[in-house]
Amino acid sequence: MGYRDELDTPCLIVHEPILRRNVEEMAAFARQQGVALRPHFKTHKTAEIARMQREAGAIGFTCAKLGEAEALADAGVADDVLLAYQIVGEQKLRRLLALMDRITVTVAVDGVDGAAALSAACRDAGKTLDVRLEINTGLDRAGVLPGEPALALAREVVQMPGLRLTGIMTHEGHVARARNADELAEIAQRAGTAMVETAALLRANGIPVDTVSVGSTPASWYTPTVSGITEMRPGTYVFNDNSAFRFGRVGVDGCALRVLATVISRPAPDQAVIDAGSKTLAMDPPQGRAGHGYIVEYPDATIARLSEEHGVVLLPPGLEGLQVGERVEIIPNHVCPVVNLQDELCLVRDGAVVDRWPVVARGKVR
Ligand SMILES: Cc1ncc(COP(=O)(O)O)c(C=O)c1O
Repeated sequence: MGYRDELDTPCLIVHEPILRRNVEEMAAFARQQGVALRPHFKTHKTAEIARMQREAGAIGFTCAKLGEAEALADAGVADDVLLAYQIVGEQKLRRLLALMDRITVTVAVDGVDGAAALSAACRDAGKTLDVRLEINTGLDRAGVLPGEPALALAREVVQMPGLRLTGIMTHEGHVARARNADELAEIAQRAGTAMVETAALLRANGIPVDTVSVGSTPASWYTPTVSGITEMRPGTYVFNDNSAFRFGRVGVDGCALRVLATVISRPAPDQAVIDAGSKTLAMDPPQGRAGHGYIVEYPDATIARLSEEHGVVLLPPGLEGLQVGERVEIIPNHVCPVVNLQDELCLVRDGAVVDRWPVVARGKVR
């Protein structure tokens, strides 16, 4: 029996050869560019894929949350993690200090108040924490602006006891707003240049900057090519998703993870219902192709609406199929939150289930 009949649905399947190819391709690119690869763990949240990335040459991992880094440490996979996130609050500072006893941790800082709290906690504990300035190169999320504002913050941070400023980082996720691949390349290169110029400004003012780190899957092939970038942190590349199609580089055969779903109702000739709703596909909006995911077997059908456990699929006139009981593979709009909704990934190869990997960092939002 093949995996499509064997597995209960909805579930997540990972085509192992595609996963392996994606992992190896990015590692080879990083090597060729001469930049370190520090993948973001939040996409897959599994020890097995982290191990695969390490074996392919990753120097360590990026996490957003302490809980993700703790899960990596518990799994014995990572000894070096960048928390690309502001660590704020008593409870978190206590956990951070404990984690520093287990693995090497670097934390992002983007303001004096947050840095001062980290500094006080580390000083009181007699520890030194590596920190990186988070730079806002255009995403307009967290981060200090490049150039003079970054220099002003760096001047404060280097004087804080218990902290060692080791570099700068950005997440150039705003490349996703590009309308086409050329525009994407241009935005990525602008972000990379802002980072390299900021590093130069800090160095010219006597502040050492070892690491100049960028990270975004759609920008991966561009930002790290800017001379002076030393590290890249893509995450989504291991699986890819529906958001990647519009830039042309990734097709269906580059998408390793799919939601396996079953058609449960056919209430009208132009409508089918699948057993994957928002609790499986998540609610991230489409970024190119309409709908809540891409049905591999029926690319002209649209997952038009989701309730928690139902996905309503609209069929264009003349489209046959999607009969009750039929199984379909769906490439999610945004794969990372979809992984967070499941306990395990089912690895498939040559039509068969070959392994099941627990999503060990599922729900680690603290
Ligand atoms: C700080 C940071 N670095 C790297 C990444 C990886 O980007 P992507 O998901 O495009 O691979 C993310 C994604 O959200 C991020 O927030």
